[in-house]
Amino acid sequence: MEVVIKQASEDACIAGARIVARLVREKPTAVLGLATGGTPLPLYCELIRMHRDEGLDFSRTTTFNLDEYLGLEPTHPQSYHHFMRENLFDAINIPVENRHIPDGMTSDVPGFCRDYERRIRDAGGIDLQILGIGSDGHIGFNEPVSSFASRTRIKTLAKETLQDNARFFDGDPDKVPRHCITMGIGTIMDARRVLLLAFGESKSRAVAGMTEGPVASVLPASILQHHPDAKILLDNAAASELKRADYYRWVYENKPDWQRDA
Ligand code: GLP
Repeated sequence: MEVVIKQASEDACIAGARIVARLVREKPTAVLGLATGGTPLPLYCELIRMHRDEGLDFSRTTTFNLDEYLGLEPTHPQSYHHFMRENLFDAINIPVENRHIPDGMTSDVPGFCRDYERRIRDAGGIDLQILGIGSDGHIGFNEPVSSFASRTRIKTLAKETLQDNARFFDGDPDKVPRHCITMGIGTIMDARRVLLLAFGESKSRAVAGMTEGPVASVLPASILQHHPDAKILLDNAAASELKRADYYRWVYENKPDWQRDA
């Protein structure tokens, strides 16, 4: 696990976008794992800027989103389909047929989930997975005590997550769908590289537990300690409960230039 602490979330997102851009330039057929939520938004904005101003080309890129609420039409303003169109897809050139998001309206959830796993495999696996983190330590929608071996499947959301996400549903946790389809933790761990972003004080407890606490399914993101190539991009507030924050800053400052923003 490499922990990088930036002054502000915008700096961390620009660093994240550069990593994505380098991959897409080096491997135009790259397979990206994408996340929703407020956290990656500035990263997506920077990718859009790079596409517009620097010709960053996504025409051969494939994407797989982590999750989707069950029961929301793709046109629903709070569906992750809608989120991705609004915040990324409509402004860059990933072909429609290369974009994959779990179908929240499927009538065969287990069959859909098996097929989603097959599609990821057929695409050659995920090269780079972008992740946020829930305040309860979830990744994707893998709530506490999700199996570390889990694959794409239905999950019931925890009350804490319904509360956190109520801000998108008129502030009412009862309006947040109770179920979702999410890639499993095993699916996420198969990605060749993982980039987790976390900003703000509300994430500091989960970040400290994930990074410096024991690996335990009660804090799903802690499994990333076992990932061979996981970078954790934080702002100062999200890093505020880390005991070794000074060490992570020192390591970053003393990296050789070629390694710093790789
Ligand atoms: C949701 C998503 C996660 C995301 C988390 C944090 O629950 N399923 O993928 O990481 O929210 O969201 P935010 O970035 O808005 O804090």
